This record gives sequence, structure tokens and C-alpha cells, in this order.
Amino acid sequence: MSPQISPSILAADFARLADEAEAVRGADWLHVDVMDNHFVPNLTLGLPVVESLRKATDIPIDCHLMIEDPDRWAPQYAEAGAGSVTFHVEAAAAPVRLAREIRSLGARASMALKPATPIEPYEDLLSELDMLLIMTVEPGFGGQSFLDIMLPKIRRTRELINRHGLQLWLQIDGGVSAETIERCADAGADVFVAGSAVYGAEDPAEAVRRLRAQAAAATEGSPWVHRH
Ligand code: DX5
Ligand code: ZN
Repeated sequence: MSPQISPSILAADFARLADEAEAVRGADWLHVDVMDNHFVPNLTLGLPVVESLRKATDIPIDCHLMIEDPDRWAPQYAEAGAGSVTFHVEAAAAPVRLAREIRSLGARASMALKPATPIEPYEDLLSELDMLLIMTVEPGFGGQSFLDIMLPKIRRTRELINRHGLQLWLQIDGGVSAETIERCADAGADVFVAGSAVYGAEDPAEAVRRLRAQAAAATEGSPWVHRH
């Protein structure tokens, strides 16, 4: 799959979200970080904002739920029209049941791992998912430095995906920029969340195009890349 970019509106102006979505026209997804001040020490936005944003933009919404009890809340984000719903495995009571429910509501089901959560225990769950998110910072805040120590986990996850012949997308989130995206693409990531690197740029839409081109160039000829 060719690389996709999902700009994170956490770095945008929350009073002008419709304009900020327009500012990244051409992006593959719009990444919406939902935080509840329990799973992470920060509070952002919830369902009403996602519902409104969905009506305000054609860009599909990529919801990243950093919340407790996703088993209860995540399906409502699928019902609200998010194209992709990501829950954290550390917070989910029944990740398989939850992934199936999200899919049955018509959204892509995605599961996230914090930096200290290994991929290996979840190998058998991968077939239930449309995307796996590997956090490359501790979740909670934008603008943090990329954790290089996550590169081996990205690589091992890509190997697992290929070994099982899955179409699963591999997303990374945190500290993705022109300086770090090539390493991540080379390790096997194919969906890139970027907040400050996009909204901190003079022309956010151009920043999206550049990041995508950099990731594509870094994976040119890589044996793991499945091109559709
Ligand atoms: C952090 C969020 C990220 C955040 C990334 O917990 O999940 O999506 O917006 O921001 P940057 O790209 O600035 O690291
Ligand atoms: Zn996020």
C-alpha cells in the first residue's frame, strides 16, 4: 500500500476546526485524538465534536481513543461516522469483541499499543483488525520527541503482518516529521499521524504531500511493501 498521512488536529486551532480540516485538503485521513483525563493526563474532545467535524469535511475521520472503557464508548464513534476507530489494548476489556463490533458498524477497527506494550501477545488478534497503531511517544500530548527505541517493534510487527499474509495497516503516531518519517517507513509503517509537523508548517497541505513523498521514497523497492 502506498503511504497515507493522517494529520492530527490536536495541533490545530480547536476554535476553527472546519477551516483546519480544509487546510489539509488532500490528506488521507483526519486524526482526531479523544482523551478523557483518565487513560492519559489530558482532556480534549468527544462525540459531539466528531459528529460535527464529520459534517464539516469530506476527509475520513481517524479516531484515536485514549480513554478508559473503550468497550463502552468506541462503538459510538463508529456510529458517529468515523471511518476508523482506534482503541487502546491496555484499556479494552474484550478487544476481539470490540474490534468485531466496530467492524459491524461499518468502521475500520484499529488497536493501539503504548510504547511499553509488546506486540507479541497479540499476534493471534491481528486478523481481527484493519489497522494496528504503534505509539512512538507516550500518549497524551502533541509535540513530543519521537522514540527511536520503537523502531524494532515496528519492524517486528511488519514481519508478523507479512508472515500471516494480512492486509492490516501499520500506523505510527508521535513525533513524526520530515526528520523521522523515513526511518519509520523503512521499518514498515504505512500510515503516519503527524500533528505539529503538519499544522506547524506554513502550508499544512504541502507538508502532507511532502511527508507522503518522503515515506514513499523511503520504501521504494522494499520487499515488505504490498502495492495494490
Ligand atoms: C499524542 C497523540 C498524537 C499527537 C501527535 O498522544 O496521539 O496524535 O497529536 O502529535 P505530534 O505529531 O506533534 O507528535
Ligand atoms: Zn493520536
